[in-house]
Order: sequence, then C-alpha cells, then structure tokens
Amino acid sequence: MKEYSCGSLRGSDEGKRLTVSGWVHAIRDHGNTYFIDLRDWEGLIQIVTKRDEINEDLNERIRAINRESVIEITGMVKKRPEGTENKKMPTGEVEVEIEELKILNSAQPLPYHFKDMHKASIPIRLKYRYLDLRHPKLQENIKTRARITSETRKFLDSQGFFEIETPMLTKSTPEGARDYLVPSRVHKGKFYALPQSPQLFKQMLMVSGFEKYYQIARCFRDEDLRPERQPEFTQIDLEMSFITQEDIINVVEGLLRHLFKEIKDLDIMSPFPRMTFYEAMNRYGSDKPDTRFGLELVDITDLIPEGISIFKEVYETNGIMSAINIKGKGDISPKAFNKWKSYVQKFKTKELANIKIIDGEAKSPLTKYLPDDVMKSIIERLDGKDGDLIVLAGGKNTNIWRGLGELRLKLASDMNLIPEGQFNFLWVVDFPSFEWSEEDKRWTAMHHPFTSCKKEFLDTFDKNPGEVLANAYDVVLNGYEIGGGSIRIHDPEVQERVFKVLGIPPEIAEQNFSFLIEAFKYGAPPHGGLAIGLDRLVMVMVDEPGIREVIAFPKTKMAVLPLGDAPNLVTDEQLDVLGIELKPEVKLMLEKKKENPNN
Ligand code: AMO
Repeated sequence: MKEYSCGSLRGSDEGKRLTVSGWVHAIRDHGNTYFIDLRDWEGLIQIVTKRDEINEDLNERIRAINRESVIEITGMVKKRPEGTENKKMPTGEVEVEIEELKILNSAQPLPYHFKDMHKASIPIRLKYRYLDLRHPKLQENIKTRARITSETRKFLDSQGFFEIETPMLTKSTPEGARDYLVPSRVHKGKFYALPQSPQLFKQMLMVSGFEKYYQIARCFRDEDLRPERQPEFTQIDLEMSFITQEDIINVVEGLLRHLFKEIKDLDIMSPFPRMTFYEAMNRYGSDKPDTRFGLELVDITDLIPEGISIFKEVYETNGIMSAINIKGKGDISPKAFNKWKSYVQKFKTKELANIKIIDGEAKSPLTKYLPDDVMKSIIERLDGKDGDLIVLAGGKNTNIWRGLGELRLKLASDMNLIPEGQFNFLWVVDFPSFEWSEEDKRWTAMHHPFTSCKKEFLDTFDKNPGEVLANAYDVVLNGYEIGGGSIRIHDPEVQERVFKVLGIPPEIAEQNFSFLIEAFKYGAPPHGGLAIGLDRLVMVMVDEPGIREVIAFPKTKMAVLPLGDAPNLVTDEQLDVLGIELKPEVKLMLEKKKENPNN
C-alpha cells in the first residue's frame, strides 16, 4: 500500500500518478480549494484539490474528515505554483493533486492532540501514549534509540562479542534494590525474581568460557523513581575474561565513540578524562560530576582553626568545610540567599554561610568567629574578587558534598551556565568497596558484592572495610551516570570473605550464592565488565530531561502503566492457583478504594 511515503516526495517526482496514505495532520479551506497536510513517519506532504475545477462532492467529504483520520490519496504529483513553495519542508516544492480519496479510518475527536502534549497531564499522556508517540520529536527519539541499539550490536559484533540471552525468571537475592517477584504456580509458595541485571549469569558465562559476552538486557528494580530511573529499563551489558580495567575502558570508549559518530556525526575526545571518586566528591560534591561548567567546590577544612563553636559538627564527625565562589553574585539579597539555604537543607547541609566581597572588603557573618587572616586565606584560596559571593558549609563530609553538589547544579541551571550541545564524558574510578549503612548498621557494597578490591587491600580488607578501594569504574556523561562496572572476584575464598564483611551470614550466602562460589571452584577466569544504561545514554544523546521521553511505553512516578492499566487486580481464582491469598488489611484497603477511588 505504501510504494511512496508522504515525507519522501521531491521535485523529481513531478508528473507521477501515485498513492500516498497517512494521518490527516491539518486541513485548510481556501475558498473552493482544500489543502490537507498528510503525515506519515517520514514527514508531511501537501495534498490539494484541483485548483481549476470545483468538485463540491469531494469538498463535502473533506470537510467531514476529523484531524488524525487515516486516509489514502491517489493523485498526480505537481510542482507547487510559483511563490507558494515551502522551503522549510523537505517536500515543500511539490503537492499531490487529489483524484481519489479513501478514508481508511475515521478518527473521533481526540482526548488531546499531541501538538498540545505539554499541556496534558502525564497520566493522560501515558494513557494515550500512542497519540503522544505521534509527536515528531518522540518518534525521532524512539527511532534514534533503535539506531543506537543496532549500532551497538554492529560495533560489539565487530569486536568479537557474542550476544547471549540470560533468564528473565530468576532467583531473588539479597543486596541491591528490591526485586519484582513472580509467584510460581508449579512450586506453590515459591517466587521467581525478575533480574535487576544479568550480573551473575554473565559471570557464569565467563566460567563457561564465553570470553566476550554482551546483551541488550531488560532489567527490573523496585525502587523510588526519578526522571532518570524507571522500574524497567535496558542495559547494554557486557563482560570479558582475561582482561584488565583498561581493556574494559577501551571497549566502552570505542563503543561510545562509534555511537556518537554514527548517530550524531560527532568525534568525541578519547581517552576520556578520569577522576577518582574522592576527587569527584571533593570538587563537585557528586560521584557523577557535570563538568560542563565551573562552580567547583573548594575544600577549606585545613584553614579552619580548632575550637570554634559553630563548626562543632566538622570536628565531631571528622568532617569537612567546603566553599564555592559564585562569581559576580556579591549583591545577593538576604531573601534570595535564604532560598539557597533552605535548598541545601533538603540535602542535610544544615547551614550555609556566605562571604560577600564588596569594595575590596569581606562582609560576612563569619567575621565574628574567624580571625582576619583566616578570612583572607579563604578568599585567596577561592580566588575571590570584588563583587563575588563565597558560600560555605561545614559538617559531615557526605552531607556537605550532597548539599553543595546539589546547590552547584541548581545554580548552574538558574544562572544558565550549562553550554548546549556539549558532551562531557568522564571516568570516575577508585570507588570505595564498602560504605557504612546507618540504617542497617552494617557495611554494604558500594558497587555490588562481586566487585574485587585493589590488590594492595586484598590481605586486609576485612579489617578496615571503610578504607578499601575497589576495581570499580563508572562512566559519566553530562552529570549522569550512564554506566558502571568492575573487575570481579574470581576466587571463592575472597568472595566468601566479602560476604562476611557485608554481614551476609554464611547460611544466607550459601542459600543465595552457593552456585557462584561453587562455579569459581571449577576453573574461573579473571573477568570483569560494565553495563551502560541505554535509556540514559539515549536521553542525553537526544537532549531530553528524562528517560520517559526515550521509552515507548514508560511508567508513571508511581510505577503505573496507564495504557492498559498495570498493575491491576486479579481474580481470587488466579490467586488460588498460585496458592496466594491477600492479607485481610489489604482486602479492606481495596474495598475502601473501590468505594472511594479518589482516596
Ligand atoms: P548498575 O546498577 O550501576 O550496574 O547499572 C548500570 C547502569 O544502568 C543504569 N540504571 C538505570 N537506568 C534506568 N533506570 C534505573 N532504575 C536504572 N538503574 C541503573 C545506569 C547505570 O549506570 N550489573 C552491574 C553492571 C556491571 O557491574 O557490569 C549493574 O547493573 O545508567
């Protein structure tokens, strides 16, 4: 039916009698001549009734067509009359003069038109996602995503990788995010978990001898959603044997270079800059720094004298004092500054002080507490000049990094400091292996429990977990963590010691990971890998603020799929087959919801 697409017609098609079909984008009535913009996924073509002949019957039928109806037109391709060409449209030189019109599907008035999508609420947009997806930008995003996936396969295949699928119905294991569970009918009372990533299976494949594996892998995590996080997402997941960190970094840089060249015709600089985790936190307050703009954090802990009451938390937590020079903002009003203060408080930075440099003089509430020479050295370290505003905060290091890091991002956006069209890649390396969880009162794995540590810590990592550095690396693009990976443990004894540090009792480790430890006893090569978050990569490449815009059918913030309405209730019979019954309080809640759906 579609020998010709709407968007493909050019001047060279003049004189062809052909058939085009698509959606009615717009209808214009110019007296007795009617114009239809007909759209398909390659673009728009102007359809016109004969200018020198009035066909009232045809005009009547056109008037009755609703926007977004699907029609088929047969007619002659003609050059548009001189002076009416549209240079902005690729098809703007020509039009198709209608001879026959067929209505293939008559559209009812739409719940909303995709042209107004920014006015519609997210749940409505997602309920009618198929309408949303008619928007040219969203269509372009989804097509670009497909091209990125295809180019990824081409590149990795050319490098000798094999794409291997791993199970979707797997086993629930502790660590990481919460699992999505699937009850088993055959084994009542037992559950599968949907994979958070193919991590353990790809390691098994290394033990099997598949030395270069990859997979465009669907992953599922039941965690709080953010613009760059969905409950189901896709990874470009890879793993290699007999390699070092450098080998993995080279492959990933090669892949990203290939993708940017093929998709955006951009040559990206390689090797990417590298930064240790500690430096990233200290200079940017983040382990995924956006390096497209300045406003760097400057550590001034060493300049602060002992025993000043307002800095109690710095001394008590062995914390830090850090500052940012916001150039030219010395005239900030107290009201505006208080807004920043409230902002950092959301991120556990309790206080924010400032030094204004006005007419060569430092004006600050801190002058009461800090001797002149200390003030002077702070200003010097921050390169403070007339008109500048230095903001300072002190306390527990993680809180200060978070607060100032977030403030830095907010300021860059408010002050329009982020250059457009720039792609700043960065490797963050030397992550700590373990971090202390106040909530669980135990060490947790910063990357995952299968990550090896740097060899200088191998003998002693159990004794001082907080100081251990891992063979882990993240690739960061414009402030987003687009990928993360590590060199794995392949020694069963080391793996068992790590489980012990993580407070995973031997019986739980045995229950959950015995297959891994056992596999490592039958000939395991040294191996490592990385996974790129495909959704995030596409999001940055097509310049969207969230991954929803690059996923055909995404979920809302509440993890709901409004199109088709998931999750939904199932019948008692369905639950019965699975040996499952809802708790009385859940039933009660559902009853109440039924009576009052808005509650
Ligand atoms: P990690 O958990 O760091 O590592 O995930 C790898 C990358 O996946 C993306 N990502 C997400 N994207 C969208 N929504 C989410 N909820 C989400 N969670 C993660 C991020 C992240 O960098 N198995 C390891 C990889 C490895 O070590 O090889 C893993 O899954 O871009």
